[in-house]
Amino acid sequence: MKLTKSAGLRGELSIPGDKSISHRAVMFGSLAKGTTHISNFLSGADCLSTIDCFRKMGVLIEQNGTNVTVHGNGLHGLKAPSETLDVGNSGTTTRLISGILAGQDFETVLSGDASLNKRPMGRIIKPLEQMGAKITSVNGNGCAPLKIEGTKLNATHYDSPVASAQVKSCVLLAGLYADGKTSVTEPALSRNHTELMLRSFGVKVESHDTTATITPPEEMIATDIVVPGDISSATFFIVAGLITPNSCIRLKNVGINPTRDGILRVCKDMGADVTLENVIDNGGEPTADIVVKTSKLKGTVIGGEVIPTLIDEIPVIALLAAFAEGETVIKDAAELKVKESDRIALTVDNLVKMGVDATATDDGMIIKGGNPLHGASINCKYDHRIAMTFSIAGINAEGETVIEDSECVDVSYPTFYEQLNSLQ
Ligand code: S3P
Repeated sequence: MKLTKSAGLRGELSIPGDKSISHRAVMFGSLAKGTTHISNFLSGADCLSTIDCFRKMGVLIEQNGTNVTVHGNGLHGLKAPSETLDVGNSGTTTRLISGILAGQDFETVLSGDASLNKRPMGRIIKPLEQMGAKITSVNGNGCAPLKIEGTKLNATHYDSPVASAQVKSCVLLAGLYADGKTSVTEPALSRNHTELMLRSFGVKVESHDTTATITPPEEMIATDIVVPGDISSATFFIVAGLITPNSCIRLKNVGINPTRDGILRVCKDMGADVTLENVIDNGGEPTADIVVKTSKLKGTVIGGEVIPTLIDEIPVIALLAAFAEGETVIKDAAELKVKESDRIALTVDNLVKMGVDATATDDGMIIKGGNPLHGASINCKYDHRIAMTFSIAGINAEGETVIEDSECVDVSYPTFYEQLNSLQ
């Protein structure tokens, strides 16, 4: 993909469905009794990997664009797949499904693409083993492929060393099959879509501070899910609207769950012109239209408990900081090193390539704003969020920017370039 400087972005966009919520809707619908209709499903490669895995375990799932119908098999109705489950690039599929598979009465093998098979799975192997699960890293390196021999599980309490919704969800989903209440405490609250959605499927889940506790149900009951727009996807256009001169963009129907809305807090701290309209409280998963206008920005410090609420947005927040006056410090974000790529290194390297004064640290980065950007050839290492971040950089740089392997945006945002063009 080739990009050049934009004269301004104007118009409105319907942001595609939330990736985290789309995964969970398919998983929980598959385990429920009855039919779950999902609307505004994210038809990105990651969520399609989740559909594929459950189809291979005998669940009838019909997809018509953003409408998905899941004919659930019930909590104990999954069938042994006849082949390895292909989780593609999706960490969420891998870590959440492992919790479910640990409690089945059959064996499975999970494997993904080159990037996925390098990501740490010890973080789920440890708590699952604490519950009595039989799960092994086939190559002995703590990564996928994973072999999971389903078995009876013991209830447990797990103190997670990382604020990770994937770890928390894995343990809670294994808890569906445990012999009593299972709880997870995390160092800071990560996204709570699992807790909220399990409740709407009739499961008792209690949340106190950073501890979530699940009581294993007899069955899960199907329900319909309307997926809000993904704030992580919307953030590319929030940043684009703020840094591109002469811009005004309305992003419609975006999920603003407080465990995901850190970007809005950062925008406020940086002095950005961002307003929320049509705020609707959909029972735990509120949505709003987000209106952004070109803004004069100032640097800020981002760290501590806000980090899990904006973890996927940090690469594009770093770009935002490059357009702010003064210094922005991002800290407490070492988790970025184990995402689809090492996002600290890759974000900083590519920013520097485009002329930004950026330095990587052990747990984040420091960006001094104000340098003009120049076009560059960007290697995104097949990381969708890096490709989108540097596409937005490209429309704010002198000269041409080329994003290599830009098709990787399909992982979370297949219509990204189409929507970007519609605003020019
Ligand atoms: C996700 C949790 C986050 C996030 C990922 C989606 C989820 O990962 O980065 O894109 O859906 O639970 P961690 O739980 O590893 O922080």
